[in-house]
Amino acid sequence: MTVNSVRRTARAKVNLTLHVTGQRADGYHLLDSLVCFAAIGDFIDMREADALSLSVDGPLAAGVPTDERNLVLQAARSFGADKGAAINLSKHLPHAAGIGGGSADAAATLLALAELWDLPLPEDVVRLGADVPVCLSPMALRMRGVGDELSVVPPLPELPAVLVNPRVAVETPPVFKALTQKENAPMGVVPECAEVGVFAKWCAEQRNDLQAPAISIEPTIQDALDALEPALFARMSGSGATCFGLCENTDSAKELAKTIRAKHPDWWVVATNFS
Ligand code: C5P
Repeated sequence: MTVNSVRRTARAKVNLTLHVTGQRADGYHLLDSLVCFAAIGDFIDMREADALSLSVDGPLAAGVPTDERNLVLQAARSFGADKGAAINLSKHLPHAAGIGGGSADAAATLLALAELWDLPLPEDVVRLGADVPVCLSPMALRMRGVGDELSVVPPLPELPAVLVNPRVAVETPPVFKALTQKENAPMGVVPECAEVGVFAKWCAEQRNDLQAPAISIEPTIQDALDALEPALFARMSGSGATCFGLCENTDSAKELAKTIRAKHPDWWVVATNFS
């Protein structure tokens, strides 16, 4: 069946854990991470057109490039097809934020264009960004290698959560560079549990090895973690600066988000749930 317009949500990626277990000769780091996805995201809309074009709008569009630096256009070019599409990216997630905004947008673009152009997905999508492979299947997954080795995990419990970004953009390469110990223990076995409290305790025993280096570069991240203190468990996602807190239930997540927003009206604060 041919379609002439497609809409996709690019959900925010959250690293519940992020262990750095080594470094390859080419400089890329080996990861062991439990990844899940929030119920919020950017939106990609596209329709058939003679040429390839990108427009960006939405509440967090400021500062997002509309030229070839944008992963959406790089994803479109990676098909190697001489085809056009008018693409609009509606930005609701902060960029350079550790929640895979660019990778999620790229993955949503790949899936949408495969449908619009009726083509198979390009190979080697990890070259677009380490989080692109996992963002192609937005569900809880264990991510290893440089982001390209994915495996299924037991179903996670309901995870009501709050996402907090103190509105500082953090570039990933300097954070990896600031990590002195590259060989660290891998993540433990993901437990099968139905209770968010039990799961939060397991998360607390795991790590995000990029959290301390990111805080050394951008100390405000610690303020975001402190603000999430009432949660069952709080940690930074990816290379920051977005932090998340897991909460007992939806109401407590909404209440915590409200409290943080009142204290920090300039921060990006969202009550959501992860799956
Ligand atoms: O792939 P992505 O664009 O997310 O990566 C940004 C940067 O983060 C890379 O250029 C690299 O410096 C670093 N990185 C890394 N090891 C990974 C993923 C990213 O060193 N597995």
